Amino acid sequence: MKTLILPTPESAIKRAADIIDHTVRATPDTVLGLATGGTMLPLYDELAQRHREDGLSFAATTSFNLDEYIGLAPDHPCSYHRYMAEAFFERVDIDPTRTHLPRGDAADPHVASNAYETLIEEAGGIDLQLLGIGQNGHIGFNEPTASIGSRTRIKTLTASTRQANQRYFASFEETPRYAITMGVATILESRKCLLLATGEAKADAVARMIEGPLSAACPASALQLHARATVILDQAAATGLKFSEYYETVHPQGRDRVFD
Ligand code: GLP
Repeated sequence: MKTLILPTPESAIKRAADIIDHTVRATPDTVLGLATGGTMLPLYDELAQRHREDGLSFAATTSFNLDEYIGLAPDHPCSYHRYMAEAFFERVDIDPTRTHLPRGDAADPHVASNAYETLIEEAGGIDLQLLGIGQNGHIGFNEPTASIGSRTRIKTLTASTRQANQRYFASFEETPRYAITMGVATILESRKCLLLATGEAKADAVARMIEGPLSAACPASALQLHARATVILDQAAATGLKFSEYYETVHPQGRDRVFD
């Protein structure tokens, strides 16, 4: 795993934006895998700003989001459909017909999950998958003990994930219990992965992901199997790492090493 430790959350966001910016300018029809969560909001702000002020165009890209809550229609204010529309899609020139999220309101979520896998396949697979990490080590909504071979499917959310996401809903009871999420294997099939984590609350999960055993108990640790996974951290999210001196030697201040 390529571990880049940036001094501040702002510089970590810029570093992640640089990678997406570079990818999309080099290959305008990139298939992007997108993520939600509080961590991604300043990243989408940065990308929208580069679109407005620096000619970064998403017009030819296709996107697939990781997950959506079951039971929420796309126009529900707390759905990931709404989150993506407000945080990103409506602020850039991406073609709405080429943006995809699982349908949380599908009559049959199993069928919708399989259909989502087919859509990704038909698009030629994901070139760059953006990821956040949950405090319990989840990626997408692949909660601890999710199979490393899993595909897009229904997952039951843990109480801790529901508590973490409760702030967006009126109460814990109203926070959804289920989601459709890309599986761990779906994520691992992306040509590149880019995981962004900021803040001390993520330090423990980050350490388990990068330096812990490969284990379904920490689904993000499955990224150890990916040949082209980059993790971007701020100092606070890196505080649990044992080998940070080594990462700093290879990538001083999160820069690319001389050999790249
Ligand atoms: C949700 C999303 C994840 C995201 C996580 C962390 O559970 N399904 O994709 O990584 O939240 O969110 P935050 O960035 O708000 O900590």
